[in-house]
Amino acid sequence: MKSVIRVDVPQQSYDIAIAANSLDDLGVWMSRLKLGKRVLVVSNPAIVKKYGERAIAALKLVGYDVASCTLPAGERYKTLKSIEKLYDAALQHHLERSSTIVALGGGVIGDMAGFAAATWLRGINVVQVPTSLLAMVDSSVGGKTGVNHPKGKNLIGAFHQPCFVLIDPSVLKTLPPREFRAGMAEVIKYGIIWNTELFEKLENASRLDQRRYMDEELLDIILTHSCQAKADVVSKDEKEAGLRAILNYGHTIGHAVESLTNYKLLKHGEAVAIGMVAAGQIAVQLRMWKPADAQRQDALIQKAGLPTQLPSGLDIEAILDTLQTDKKVKDGKVRFVLPTQIGAVTVTDQVPANVIRQVLRQMQDS
Ligand code: NAD
Ligand code: GLY
Repeated sequence: MKSVIRVDVPQQSYDIAIAANSLDDLGVWMSRLKLGKRVLVVSNPAIVKKYGERAIAALKLVGYDVASCTLPAGERYKTLKSIEKLYDAALQHHLERSSTIVALGGGVIGDMAGFAAATWLRGINVVQVPTSLLAMVDSSVGGKTGVNHPKGKNLIGAFHQPCFVLIDPSVLKTLPPREFRAGMAEVIKYGIIWNTELFEKLENASRLDQRRYMDEELLDIILTHSCQAKADVVSKDEKEAGLRAILNYGHTIGHAVESLTNYKLLKHGEAVAIGMVAAGQIAVQLRMWKPADAQRQDALIQKAGLPTQLPSGLDIEAILDTLQTDKKVKDGKVRFVLPTQIGAVTVTDQVPANVIRQVLRQMQDS
């Protein structure tokens, strides 16, 4: 498999290349971009162990002067403290305006490396080399970068587009199955919000819950259609002035559930899956979506081994309260992305609290 998808945005247009075993060609791909000689590879210990040597060798092969910076793994280290460590490495390796940070890892590494690149010397190049499914189909594309504040997720950040994204699907072989499933939630999201064909391909697949049960053709469809969907949306609305908000499908209730469970119980994709079920049911209650289509969505979420019910013990009024603190609240009104058919959604702030309450009650573990 080999595809190249173009992301056309005002800040900086770039390609997403998807090719098996392409990690060994990272330097060759990058040398076409005429970047400066110095490169800093940012990763975490587990990824460095698996793929660090190959990435560094591929860069050195074409003459880059490479240094690396290894940050601790996990969402709780997505902080300004880690960014300071990254700045120290940038200083030590004498990164210049023409230099490049390579983000080798999942979304946590991608967001931090991107943010450091956005701010070091007021902006240097970043190349995203995503290694988790979620990072491949979502976080590595579109230029949202940032870190968490102790009071909230992703509160500190910047839009900074990568100059290139290299996706090597063969690295997914080592991704833990639960992480793979979490990434599948975002893939299903693209089927609902944008691409009917992708949705139907997923419906026709025998299994979606583990990488090893998928053939190369299906994985290729998943990656190319998802990246194309994200590229289409971001190209039309780089900084979320309007359309880009549809990428937050499932994230309104999802974020509330994630936050109330202290980001520990659920993976982000699992919370998004719950949020998509809730949004689907809200759309059905408001007579915007056919119940049969909501059932098709929920069946797909289940096939991917993702949750469709609220975690037990979660207080519904607490979810409603948390919705009010969401980043997507505008003038005190909660914005929902709701499906109108498979492949199309609309954004509305006209969802009565009672409808949300009723849907969440239906989703409580009985
Ligand atoms: P992650 O980066 O924590 O990676 C998940 C785990 O998988 C980590 O332990 C990582 O070391 C491991 N891993 C990654 N690739 C692997 C591989 N090939 N083999 C073995 N292990 C591997 O989590 P994630 O789900 O990739 O990303 C979540 C983050 O992305 C969150 O911080 C979220 O806020 C962010 N995000 C950003 C955007 C955006 O547009 N910028 C979009 C969605 C999510
Ligand atoms: N993940 C949502 C966005 O990139 O806008």
